[in-house]
Amino acid sequence: MDAAIEARGLVRHFGAVAAVDGIDLTVPVGSVYGFLGPNGSGKTTTIRMLLGLLRPERGTVRLMGGSPRDAASLARVGALVERPALYPYLSARENLLLFATLAGMTGHEADRAIDEALGVVGLGAVARRKAGGFSTGMLQRLSMALVLLRDPSLVILDEPTNGLDPGGVVDVRALIAELARSGRTVFLSTHVLTEVEQLCDRVAVLQRGRLVADGLTRELLERGQRLAIGFDTHEEAARAAAVLAEAAIATEIAGDDKDALRVSLDGPSPSAINRLLAEHDLHPAELVVRRASLESVFLDLTEGV
Ligand SMILES: Nc1ncnc2c1ncn2[C@@H]1O[C@H](COP(=O)(O)OP(=O)(O)OP(=O)(O)O)[C@@H](O)[C@H]1O
Ligand SMILES: [Mg+2]
Repeated sequence: MDAAIEARGLVRHFGAVAAVDGIDLTVPVGSVYGFLGPNGSGKTTTIRMLLGLLRPERGTVRLMGGSPRDAASLARVGALVERPALYPYLSARENLLLFATLAGMTGHEADRAIDEALGVVGLGAVARRKAGGFSTGMLQRLSMALVLLRDPSLVILDEPTNGLDPGGVVDVRALIAELARSGRTVFLSTHVLTEVEQLCDRVAVLQRGRLVADGLTRELLERGQRLAIGFDTHEEAARAAAVLAEAAIATEIAGDDKDALRVSLDGPSPSAINRLLAEHDLHPAELVVRRASLESVFLDLTEGV
Protein backbone atom coordinates (compact mmCIF):
# COMPACT_ATOMS: atom_id res chain seq x y z
CA MET A 1 0.00 0.00 0.00
CA ASP A 2 1.56 3.34 -1.11
CA ALA A 3 -1.44 5.57 -0.58
CA ALA A 4 -3.10 6.11 2.78
CA ILE A 5 -6.03 7.74 1.00
CA GLU A 6 -7.03 7.26 -2.60
CA ALA A 7 -10.16 9.00 -3.85
CA ARG A 8 -11.35 9.02 -7.45
CA GLY A 9 -14.06 11.16 -8.98
CA LEU A 10 -15.86 12.13 -5.78
CA VAL A 11 -19.09 14.03 -6.34
CA ARG A 12 -21.64 15.25 -3.84
CA HIS A 13 -24.46 17.78 -4.23
CA PHE A 14 -26.64 19.44 -1.62
CA GLY A 15 -29.71 20.49 -3.54
CA ALA A 16 -28.43 22.47 -6.49
CA VAL A 17 -25.04 23.11 -4.84
CA ALA A 18 -22.18 20.96 -6.09
CA ALA A 19 -20.33 20.82 -2.76
CA VAL A 20 -17.78 18.39 -4.20
CA ASP A 21 -17.55 18.32 -7.96
CA GLY A 22 -15.23 15.54 -9.10
CA ILE A 23 -12.22 15.29 -6.80
CA ASP A 24 -9.24 12.94 -7.13
CA LEU A 25 -6.86 12.66 -4.18
CA THR A 26 -3.82 10.51 -3.55
CA VAL A 27 -2.28 10.88 -0.11
CA PRO A 28 1.02 8.99 0.10
CA VAL A 29 1.83 7.08 3.28
CA GLY A 30 3.98 9.21 5.58
CA SER A 31 3.04 12.56 4.06
CA VAL A 32 1.55 15.57 5.78
CA TYR A 33 -1.09 16.57 3.28
CA GLY A 34 -2.72 19.98 3.39
CA PHE A 35 -6.26 20.31 2.09
CA LEU A 36 -6.57 24.01 1.52
CA GLY A 37 -9.62 26.00 0.52
CA PRO A 38 -11.80 28.95 1.47
CA ASN A 39 -15.02 28.62 3.47
CA GLY A 40 -17.64 26.56 1.68
CA SER A 41 -15.19 25.09 -0.86
CA GLY A 42 -16.08 21.51 0.10
CA LYS A 43 -13.37 20.46 2.57
CA THR A 44 -15.62 19.03 5.26
CA THR A 45 -17.90 17.35 2.72
CA THR A 46 -14.86 15.65 1.15
CA ILE A 47 -13.50 14.54 4.52
CA ARG A 48 -16.88 13.11 5.51
CA MET A 49 -16.89 11.05 2.32
CA LEU A 50 -13.30 9.90 2.92
CA LEU A 51 -14.34 8.64 6.33
CA GLY A 52 -17.54 6.95 5.18
CA LEU A 53 -19.68 9.42 7.14
CA LEU A 54 -21.35 10.59 3.94
CA ARG A 55 -22.03 8.53 0.85
CA PRO A 56 -20.60 9.97 -2.37
CA GLU A 57 -23.04 10.25 -5.27
CA ARG A 58 -20.22 9.21 -7.53
CA GLY A 59 -16.65 8.10 -7.07
CA THR A 60 -14.65 5.75 -4.91
CA VAL A 61 -12.56 5.97 -1.74
CA ARG A 62 -9.80 3.69 -0.51
CA LEU A 63 -8.73 4.32 3.05
CA MET A 64 -5.63 2.51 4.34
CA GLY A 65 -6.03 0.05 1.51
CA GLY A 66 -9.64 -0.79 2.32
CA SER A 67 -13.14 0.59 2.12
CA PRO A 68 -14.19 3.37 4.53
CA ARG A 69 -17.11 1.15 5.42
CA ASP A 70 -14.74 -1.55 6.60
CA ALA A 71 -14.03 -1.63 10.36
CA ALA A 72 -10.49 -2.93 9.79
CA SER A 73 -9.50 0.12 7.72
CA LEU A 74 -11.25 2.54 10.08
CA ALA A 75 -9.43 1.04 13.07
CA ARG A 76 -6.18 2.45 11.67
CA VAL A 77 -7.62 5.94 11.23
CA GLY A 78 -8.01 8.67 13.83
CA ALA A 79 -10.23 11.55 12.78
CA LEU A 80 -11.37 14.85 14.15
CA VAL A 81 -14.21 16.22 12.03
CA GLU A 82 -16.96 17.56 14.17
CA ARG A 83 -16.17 18.43 17.76
CA PRO A 84 -16.50 15.20 19.72
CA ALA A 85 -19.00 15.09 22.58
CA LEU A 86 -16.94 15.39 25.75
CA TYR A 87 -18.52 15.00 29.16
CA PRO A 88 -17.96 18.16 31.25
CA TYR A 89 -18.39 16.40 34.61
CA LEU A 90 -15.86 13.72 33.78
CA SER A 91 -12.10 14.25 33.99
CA ALA A 92 -9.92 14.19 30.90
CA ARG A 93 -8.84 10.68 31.83
CA GLU A 94 -12.41 9.47 32.42
CA ASN A 95 -13.52 10.86 29.07
CA LEU A 96 -10.71 8.94 27.40
CA LEU A 97 -11.54 5.79 29.35
CA LEU A 98 -15.10 5.94 28.10
CA PHE A 99 -13.92 6.07 24.49
CA ALA A 100 -11.26 3.41 25.11
CA THR A 101 -13.95 1.12 26.48
CA LEU A 102 -16.15 1.79 23.46
CA ALA A 103 -13.18 0.90 21.28
CA GLY A 104 -12.95 -2.43 23.08
CA MET A 105 -9.86 -1.72 25.17
CA THR A 106 -9.73 -2.92 28.74
CA GLY A 107 -7.51 -2.84 31.84
CA HIS A 108 -3.80 -2.22 31.33
CA GLU A 109 -4.20 -1.86 27.58
CA ALA A 110 -6.63 1.01 28.06
CA ASP A 111 -4.52 2.63 30.80
CA ARG A 112 -1.42 2.48 28.66
CA ALA A 113 -3.15 3.92 25.59
CA ILE A 114 -4.68 6.73 27.67
CA ASP A 115 -1.39 7.67 29.36
CA GLU A 116 0.36 7.64 26.02
CA ALA A 117 -2.30 9.84 24.35
CA LEU A 118 -2.39 12.27 27.29
CA GLY A 119 1.39 12.51 27.17
CA VAL A 120 1.52 13.26 23.45
CA VAL A 121 -1.02 16.08 23.71
CA GLY A 122 0.59 17.45 26.88
CA LEU A 123 -2.37 16.94 29.21
CA GLY A 124 -0.69 14.49 31.58
CA ALA A 125 -0.59 17.00 34.43
CA VAL A 126 -4.31 17.85 34.25
CA ALA A 127 -5.58 14.36 33.49
CA ARG A 128 -7.76 14.29 36.62
CA ARG A 129 -9.35 17.70 36.13
CA LYS A 130 -12.91 17.92 34.84
CA ALA A 131 -13.15 18.62 31.11
CA GLY A 132 -15.85 21.24 31.81
CA GLY A 133 -13.18 23.53 33.26
CA PHE A 134 -10.86 23.24 30.25
CA SER A 135 -10.05 26.15 27.95
CA THR A 136 -10.79 25.85 24.21
CA GLY A 137 -7.16 24.92 23.59
CA MET A 138 -7.18 22.25 26.29
CA LEU A 139 -10.43 20.81 24.90
CA GLN A 140 -8.89 20.68 21.45
CA ARG A 141 -5.94 18.77 22.89
CA LEU A 142 -8.28 16.39 24.64
CA SER A 143 -10.09 15.85 21.33
CA MET A 144 -6.70 15.13 19.77
CA ALA A 145 -6.01 12.61 22.55
CA LEU A 146 -9.24 10.83 21.56
CA VAL A 147 -8.00 10.74 17.97
CA LEU A 148 -4.70 9.20 19.05
CA LEU A 149 -6.13 6.68 21.46
CA ARG A 150 -5.98 3.76 19.07
CA ASP A 151 -2.51 4.68 17.80
CA PRO A 152 -3.75 5.46 14.27
CA SER A 153 -1.46 5.24 11.24
CA LEU A 154 -3.54 7.89 9.48
CA VAL A 155 -4.80 11.02 11.18
CA ILE A 156 -7.49 13.13 9.47
CA LEU A 157 -8.11 16.56 10.97
CA ASP A 158 -10.72 19.07 9.79
CA GLU A 159 -9.44 22.56 10.64
CA PRO A 160 -7.76 21.48 13.87
CA THR A 161 -6.66 25.00 14.83
CA ASN A 162 -9.99 26.69 14.18
CA GLY A 163 -11.14 28.80 17.10
CA LEU A 164 -7.92 28.51 19.10
CA ASP A 165 -5.99 31.45 20.50
CA PRO A 166 -2.45 31.99 19.15
CA GLY A 167 -0.94 29.86 21.93
CA GLY A 168 -3.36 27.03 21.22
CA VAL A 169 -2.61 27.26 17.49
CA VAL A 170 1.13 26.94 18.13
CA ASP A 171 0.53 23.94 20.41
CA VAL A 172 -1.71 22.08 17.99
CA ARG A 173 0.71 22.75 15.11
CA ALA A 174 3.59 21.41 17.21
CA LEU A 175 1.50 18.35 17.95
CA ILE A 176 0.81 17.77 14.25
CA ALA A 177 4.54 18.10 13.49
CA GLU A 178 5.17 15.53 16.21
CA LEU A 179 2.63 13.13 14.65
CA ALA A 180 4.43 13.48 11.34
CA ARG A 181 7.83 12.82 12.95
CA SER A 182 6.47 9.64 14.48
CA GLY A 183 5.76 8.41 10.94
CA ARG A 184 2.02 8.88 10.82
CA THR A 185 0.25 10.12 7.73
CA VAL A 186 -1.60 13.34 8.40
CA PHE A 187 -4.41 14.76 6.25
CA LEU A 188 -5.32 18.21 7.40
CA SER A 189 -7.89 20.66 6.12
CA THR A 190 -7.37 24.34 6.69
CA HIS A 191 -8.04 27.75 5.24
CA VAL A 192 -4.85 29.06 6.86
CA LEU A 193 -2.08 29.24 4.30
CA THR A 194 0.78 29.60 6.76
CA GLU A 195 -0.33 26.36 8.35
CA VAL A 196 0.25 24.54 5.08
CA GLU A 197 3.59 26.27 4.57
CA GLN A 198 4.75 25.29 8.03
CA LEU A 199 3.44 21.75 8.23
CA CYS A 200 2.59 20.18 4.91
CA ASP A 201 4.89 18.60 2.37
CA ARG A 202 1.97 18.26 -0.02
CA VAL A 203 -1.08 20.36 -0.66
CA ALA A 204 -4.28 20.26 -2.66
CA VAL A 205 -6.09 23.52 -3.23
CA LEU A 206 -9.86 23.35 -3.37
CA GLN A 207 -12.13 25.96 -4.89
CA ARG A 208 -15.88 25.51 -5.24
CA GLY A 209 -15.72 21.75 -5.00
CA ARG A 210 -12.87 21.35 -7.47
CA LEU A 211 -9.12 20.99 -7.11
CA VAL A 212 -7.30 23.90 -8.70
CA ALA A 213 -3.84 22.60 -7.77
CA ASP A 214 -2.22 19.71 -6.07
CA GLY A 215 1.34 18.61 -5.55
CA LEU A 216 4.42 19.28 -3.46
CA THR A 217 4.08 22.45 -1.40
CA ARG A 218 7.67 23.35 -2.30
CA GLU A 219 6.92 23.13 -6.03
CA LEU A 220 3.77 25.16 -5.70
CA LEU A 221 5.76 27.86 -3.96
CA GLU A 222 8.51 27.73 -6.59
CA ARG A 223 5.89 28.26 -9.25
CA GLY A 224 5.21 31.68 -7.83
CA GLN A 225 8.83 32.83 -7.70
CA ARG A 226 9.65 36.23 -9.14
CA LEU A 227 12.93 37.74 -10.13
CA ALA A 228 13.35 41.42 -9.27
CA ILE A 229 15.89 43.23 -11.45
CA GLY A 230 16.92 46.71 -10.40
CA PHE A 231 18.66 49.21 -12.69
CA ASP A 232 20.28 52.59 -12.10
CA THR A 233 17.94 54.38 -14.48
CA HIS A 234 14.48 53.84 -15.90
CA GLU A 235 15.91 54.06 -19.44
CA GLU A 236 17.97 50.96 -18.73
CA ALA A 237 14.95 49.21 -17.27
CA ALA A 238 12.89 50.00 -20.35
CA ARG A 239 15.67 48.79 -22.66
CA ALA A 240 15.98 45.57 -20.62
CA ALA A 241 12.22 45.03 -20.87
CA ALA A 242 12.50 45.30 -24.66
CA VAL A 243 15.43 42.85 -24.79
CA LEU A 244 13.53 40.32 -22.67
CA ALA A 245 10.33 40.79 -24.65
CA GLU A 246 12.35 39.94 -27.78
CA ALA A 247 13.23 36.62 -26.09
CA ALA A 248 9.53 36.07 -25.26
CA ILE A 249 10.09 36.72 -21.56
CA ALA A 250 7.29 38.83 -20.13
CA THR A 251 8.21 41.49 -17.62
CA GLU A 252 6.48 44.00 -15.49
CA ILE A 253 7.90 47.45 -14.79
CA ALA A 254 8.23 48.11 -11.06
CA GLY A 255 9.80 50.54 -8.61
CA ASP A 256 8.88 54.12 -7.79
CA ASP A 257 11.27 55.42 -10.45
CA LYS A 258 10.25 52.70 -12.92
CA ASP A 259 13.82 51.50 -12.77
CA ALA A 260 13.09 47.87 -11.90
CA LEU A 261 11.59 44.87 -13.65
CA ARG A 262 9.73 41.87 -12.31
CA VAL A 263 9.99 38.58 -14.13
CA SER A 264 8.03 35.44 -13.39
CA LEU A 265 10.44 32.50 -13.01
CA ASP A 266 8.30 29.82 -14.63
CA GLY A 267 10.68 29.39 -17.54
CA PRO A 268 14.13 31.00 -17.70
CA SER A 269 16.65 30.83 -14.85
CA PRO A 270 18.01 34.02 -13.24
CA SER A 271 21.47 33.34 -14.63
CA ALA A 272 20.12 32.90 -18.18
CA ILE A 273 18.29 36.21 -17.86
CA ASN A 274 21.41 37.91 -16.52
CA ARG A 275 23.49 36.53 -19.39
CA LEU A 276 21.01 37.74 -21.96
CA LEU A 277 21.03 41.23 -20.45
CA ALA A 278 24.86 41.29 -20.32
CA GLU A 279 24.99 40.40 -24.04
CA HIS A 280 23.09 43.66 -24.61
CA ASP A 281 25.40 45.57 -22.31
CA LEU A 282 22.77 45.84 -19.62
CA HIS A 283 24.12 45.43 -16.11
CA PRO A 284 21.56 45.29 -13.33
CA ALA A 285 22.39 46.99 -10.06
CA GLU A 286 20.40 44.32 -8.28
CA LEU A 287 19.03 40.87 -9.06
CA VAL A 288 16.94 39.19 -6.37
CA VAL A 289 14.76 36.08 -6.40
CA ARG A 290 11.62 36.72 -4.38
CA ARG A 291 9.95 33.65 -3.07
CA ALA A 292 6.18 33.96 -3.35
CA SER A 293 4.07 33.35 -0.32
CA LEU A 294 1.63 30.51 -0.66
CA GLU A 295 -0.97 33.22 -0.26
CA SER A 296 -0.09 34.92 -3.52
CA VAL A 297 0.12 31.57 -5.32
CA PHE A 298 -3.26 30.68 -3.88
CA LEU A 299 -4.76 33.97 -5.02
CA ASP A 300 -3.29 33.48 -8.49
CA LEU A 301 -4.80 30.01 -8.66
CA THR A 302 -8.24 30.94 -7.44
CA GLU A 303 -8.51 34.22 -9.32
CA GLY A 304 -11.41 34.21 -11.70
CA VAL A 305 -12.32 30.61 -10.92
N1 LIG B 1 -25.57 19.22 5.21
C1 LIG B 1 -25.58 20.17 4.26
N2 LIG B 1 -26.74 20.63 3.76
C2 LIG B 1 -26.77 21.57 2.78
N3 LIG B 1 -25.67 22.13 2.25
C3 LIG B 1 -24.48 21.74 2.73
C4 LIG B 1 -24.36 20.75 3.76
N4 LIG B 1 -23.05 20.55 4.02
C5 LIG B 1 -22.38 21.39 3.22
N5 LIG B 1 -23.22 22.09 2.43
C6 LIG B 1 -22.82 23.08 1.39
O1 LIG B 1 -21.78 22.51 0.61
C7 LIG B 1 -20.76 23.45 0.34
C8 LIG B 1 -19.44 22.95 0.89
O2 LIG B 1 -19.50 22.94 2.30
P1 LIG B 1 -18.34 22.36 3.22
O3 LIG B 1 -18.82 22.38 4.62
O4 LIG B 1 -17.87 21.06 2.68
O5 LIG B 1 -17.20 23.45 3.00
P2 LIG B 1 -15.85 23.70 3.83
O6 LIG B 1 -14.77 23.86 2.81
O7 LIG B 1 -15.69 22.65 4.86
O8 LIG B 1 -16.14 25.13 4.50
P3 LIG B 1 -15.62 25.74 5.90
O9 LIG B 1 -14.25 26.26 5.65
O10 LIG B 1 -16.59 26.85 6.16
O11 LIG B 1 -15.68 24.66 6.93
C9 LIG B 1 -21.24 24.75 0.93
O12 LIG B 1 -21.88 25.49 -0.07
C10 LIG B 1 -22.22 24.33 2.00
O13 LIG B 1 -23.19 25.32 2.21
MG1 LIG C 1 -15.54 22.73 6.95
